[in-house]
Amino acid sequence: MPAEEILISQARIESRLPELAAEINEALPEGPVHVVMILKGAIVFGVDLARALGRNTTLGFLSASSYGAGMKSKGRVEIDARHLGEVEGRNVLLIDDILDTGHTFSKTIDILRDKRPASLRTCVLMDKPERREVDIHADHVGFAIENHFVVGYGLDCDEAYRTLPDIRIYAPE
Ligand code: IMP
Ligand code: MG
Repeated sequence: MPAEEILISQARIESRLPELAAEINEALPEGPVHVVMILKGAIVFGVDLARALGRNTTLGFLSASSYGAGMKSKGRVEIDARHLGEVEGRNVLLIDDILDTGHTFSKTIDILRDKRPASLRTCVLMDKPERREVDIHADHVGFAIENHFVVGYGLDCDEAYRTLPDIRIYAPE
């Protein structure tokens, strides 16, 4: 299998989740939170994190597709917001799997801000700061990593590996 080297173990993910949840709970105002995940990569982490928050949550989803050479997002990101749910006047937590060039996250944040949430916090499981093309950061980061292509715990390579329990470095054979 071309994804054998474990970068972040299941145990490390499991111990980081309550720490992140505590950080986020401290930063978010009291009351219900609308948790918005970017499909599909964020769903595994997003659901685990939403449960770890231990508060009243509703779920919303955004779907992002990028177009351009080599399927890399080059700023041409299209967002489908049909399953976003109500954002106006609510406390919103945006969750993604990984912050790479930053195009997807920055476009998504613009869309959410336009809908006038009462507050907006952002969280990513992983951050690859070296790869950034857009000046953007997440308020909460699970793990900062080097410039590897990773799979597992929601992240895919051509739709494979999303259900691995840990995060692995993908190395084509
Ligand atoms: P960005 O717009 O370049 O920041 O792209 C972010 C999206 O690209 C993430 O939500 C992932 O879906 C995908 N992505 C970026 N890096 C990786 C990786 O290492 N493994 C799997 N997907 C990745
Ligand atoms: Mg993806």
